[in-house]
Amino acid sequence: MPSFPCDEALFYYNRKESLSVSRSVTNPVVKSTQLVRNFMVSPQVRPKRMWRHIVQKGDTVVDATCGNGHDTLEMVKLVADESGRGCVYGMDIQNIALENTSLLLDALLNPNERKLVKLFHTCHSRMEDIVPNGTSVRLVAFNLGYLPGGDKALVTLSETTLQALEVASRILAPGGLISIIAYVGHPGGRKEFETVQAFASGLPVDDWVCTKFEMINRQMAPVLVILFRK
Ligand SMILES: C[S@@+](CC[C@H](N)C(=O)[O-])C[C@H]1O[C@@H](n2cnc3c(N)ncnc32)[C@H](O)[C@@H]1O
Repeated sequence: MPSFPCDEALFYYNRKESLSVSRSVTNPVVKSTQLVRNFMVSPQVRPKRMWRHIVQKGDTVVDATCGNGHDTLEMVKLVADESGRGCVYGMDIQNIALENTSLLLDALLNPNERKLVKLFHTCHSRMEDIVPNGTSVRLVAFNLGYLPGGDKALVTLSETTLQALEVASRILAPGGLISIIAYVGHPGGRKEFETVQAFASGLPVDDWVCTKFEMINRQMAPVLVILFRK
């Protein structure tokens, strides 16, 4: 087990998960350090592993880019409990993406879990129109770029991504996370990442811990940006 002085006592080795983070930690700097270290130990970008340490049963979360539904599925598994609490709001601008997501969820969720997901054919910049006012949102996830297996010309765009991030930062509860995977290898992708980065840089340090994870020996690798609200 590696040794980091700031949170050594809080960290524990878990054989099944290989590395885990204590859910009970509330100090934002310690929590953020744990998340960073978890990423560094992982060979790839693994936002879902980070979500597990933030999202709890019964939470409300948002998938801002449903795509083929893999992230939505993961979110339902995180929030669903026996009492039927928990909610996942998902959105995409493409019908085919919402259909793919529905098919995946129908196939892999039980009826009670499936009921927790609400899918919308809309731009993520309109997130506030679908998440009821006053809802405490624990996670907003963006997996930017184009639909895998779909039309590569239909990509997320800097302008609407920025608007969506502004909305997400308003609806996110304290202790929540905005997670963004930005792909820099397609046209417009680098500019979009820079827009995300500029937005993150401007968030007040008293309220947010903002980090990015990028490979420095693979220029076109996707960048993971994590915005943790204290
Ligand atoms: C990389 S895919 C998402 C992958 C998905 N999260 C998954 O687990 O399969 C990006 C998705 O963003 C969608 N998208 C593009 N612009 C959007 C927008 N303004 N609002 C919401 N979704 C958008 C695309 O249609 C595409 O399905």
